[in-house]
Amino acid sequence: MNVLLIGSGGREHALAWKIAASPMLTKLYAAPGNPGIAQEAELVALDIADHAAVAALCKDKAIGLVVVGPEGPLVAGIGDDLRAAGIRVFGPSRAAAQLEGSKGFTKDLCARYGIPTAAYGRFDNAADARAYVEKMGAPIVIKADGLAAGKGVTVAMTLDEALAAVDGCFDGAFGGAGASVVVEEFMTGEEASFFCLCDGKTALPFGTAQDHKRVGDGDVGPNTGGMGAYSPAPVMTPELIDQTMREIVEPTMRGMAEMGAPFAGVLFAGLMLTDKGPRLIEYNTRFGDPECQVLMLRLKEDLLVLLNAAADGQLAHVSARWRDEAALTVVMAAKGYPGTPEKGSVIAGIDKAEASGARVFHAGTAVQGADIVANGGRVLNVTATGRTVSEAQAKAYAAVDLVDWPDGFCRRDIGWLAVAREQGN
Ligand code: AMP
Ligand code: GLY
Repeated sequence: MNVLLIGSGGREHALAWKIAASPMLTKLYAAPGNPGIAQEAELVALDIADHAAVAALCKDKAIGLVVVGPEGPLVAGIGDDLRAAGIRVFGPSRAAAQLEGSKGFTKDLCARYGIPTAAYGRFDNAADARAYVEKMGAPIVIKADGLAAGKGVTVAMTLDEALAAVDGCFDGAFGGAGASVVVEEFMTGEEASFFCLCDGKTALPFGTAQDHKRVGDGDVGPNTGGMGAYSPAPVMTPELIDQTMREIVEPTMRGMAEMGAPFAGVLFAGLMLTDKGPRLIEYNTRFGDPECQVLMLRLKEDLLVLLNAAADGQLAHVSARWRDEAALTVVMAAKGYPGTPEKGSVIAGIDKAEASGARVFHAGTAVQGADIVANGGRVLNVTATGRTVSEAQAKAYAAVDLVDWPDGFCRRDIGWLAVAREQGN
């Protein structure tokens, strides 16, 4: 089978690496891809926002399955347009991708189906949102409804901060994404990510992870797309996974099917483990980045078999087995990230890092002459496995130290909470 992979980040490099290992694969294409993905796939020049052009390429290259990495194209309806052209796709429809594309949609679904999540109000004007904030008091959480590249959430510790966030949304800080605003109860607890592969009817648990969203050691500083992650999340016991399936994922699958928008693709639940049990923070409708990188290192199964089963409504007939090891990834970012990263600095030593036993996924690189250079904010994902998170962490950082890139930086404490637990602290 020929496969087309859509996307260009570290998540897609990890997917490409795993798909390329499948005996089912004839040829892998990727658009737009990156220099790491190019080691596994033929890159094709394609405007992925032009769905007719993507469909034409699929016909031309006899693509048997399109795998969509990022949320943007899913929310824009690439799944619907390709399926209408008779092309098989792994990824949700536009209607089902609202689980990520509209926070208000997801909150309303939770309310209707009794799915545990923070209490909320949904507003389309500043006056009503401000009144609700003043009634509820701080701390409180303000969210732009639509896609805002991970920047649309303000966890406000004071009333002033909350009111400023409301005004920011309605003044256009997030463009159209902020035209509608969700105001939420502030929850406390440990956060964990839980993934399922879904085919519209069946949700297959597909691993747990924890990530580090803040740019600085000790989880301080501005939010990022994620500075590192590890899997499994030790806090997600089999009992908590069962409870999450029963109380959160299964009612979601049922609700989406009843609404005529059955969910097929990756359902990524961001959970807050409160003292009253797991509560949904948010859904994403794709793999996490960099969570995908650690999941792929642990997955024993042929990924392409599973993605095909999801696309065909056959997930009830497959299972996913995992290596009994932890995986940890460290994001190496360009100086300036998450603000304006510096581009073009030369990176050496990736081969040495890989020779040490780690896997280096490319997230934001470019080829310039004979060099690999930085070409984005998050640039490399240095990923390793070990018997424990501590061992995976030690191997990942040993590999990071073999990368010669003076203009890059990384957090030095990825996995700290799991490591502290393993050490009994
Ligand atoms: P989201 O983009 O919705 O995942 O939110 C980003 C981050 O904001 C989450 O990972 C949490 O750390 C925090 N957050 C979101 N919603 C809440 C909430 N209701 N209570 C406390 N923290 C939250
Ligand atoms: N790492 C968080 C995300 O992919 O949304």
